[in-house]
Amino acid sequence: MRVAFVGKGGSGKSVLSGTLARVLARRGRRVLALDVDTMPGLAFSLGIPIRDAGMPEELGERQEGRGWVVRDGVTAEELVERYAVSAPDGVLFLQLGKLPSRVKPGSTTAFRHVLEEFRADGWSLVGDLAGGTRQPFFGWGDFAQVIAVVVEPSAKSLLSARRLAGLAGTVDGTTVGIVANKVRGEDDLRLIAQGATLPLIGVVPFDEEFAAADRAGRALLDVAPGSPAVTAVESLAASLEHVVANGSTA
Ligand SMILES: Nc1ncnc2c1ncn2[C@@H]1O[C@H](COP(=O)(O)OP(=O)(O)OP(=O)(O)O)[C@@H](O)[C@H]1O
Ligand SMILES: [Mg+2]
Repeated sequence: MRVAFVGKGGSGKSVLSGTLARVLARRGRRVLALDVDTMPGLAFSLGIPIRDAGMPEELGERQEGRGWVVRDGVTAEELVERYAVSAPDGVLFLQLGKLPSRVKPGSTTAFRHVLEEFRADGWSLVGDLAGGTRQPFFGWGDFAQVIAVVVEPSAKSLLSARRLAGLAGTVDGTTVGIVANKVRGEDDLRLIAQGATLPLIGVVPFDEEFAAADRAGRALLDVAPGSPAVTAVESLAASLEHVVANGSTA
């Protein structure tokens, strides 16, 4: 399964992708969690120390007529083996890394190579993209079979979701759907269902435990494994499996 989380800043992409990655691993999958955001945050939600660095700049080179490519034919599998770090539940973690002051093309090329080429048998990919439309519209979510647009009950978040709905139909075999997050009741869910133009894949309640985990800089699964949000992410994992198997949200 390959899934990418997109949506407005602060909607919950990192906490949901980190929790989902570990839930999928607990369901027996081998999982590579990818922080595609240049403001790294997914590590917190996985429960590992935060680091700024991406892969070494020297991995990429600019070739005449081809643009930036990975040097010496290094494969995506080799990059994962060398540079991914271990997170709880057996998840592997790789990040694009912080941009110091300007884009690092070599390191970025290597990371994009993993997104586009890492298809090792039996592995699931969970990507946490930067907030807003820029990264998704530049194809950083195209690796996924499901693009999950995280929406919280707010007019601004719904506006982002309607823009991101433009991703639907742009990549063959990719389903784009909504994950309603921070839902406090029926009214919130109705607001999201009526305001969004995409099918609903999952619903995650507002959960104070997320705030507690966030304050501590820890993973929700380590702080409150029995919380309602964890149960909701388990259901989300099941719906995503259904979407991937059937190619639809029905
Ligand atoms: N279901 C929820 N219940 C309560 N709080 C939540 C829930 N989901 C996310 N949050 C809180 O919302 C805040 C933003 O979450 P998160 O960092 O995952 O968002 P993001 O979409 O990754 O943001 P960014 O675009 O800045 O990377 C955090 O404080 C998180 O704890
Ligand atoms: Mg984030």
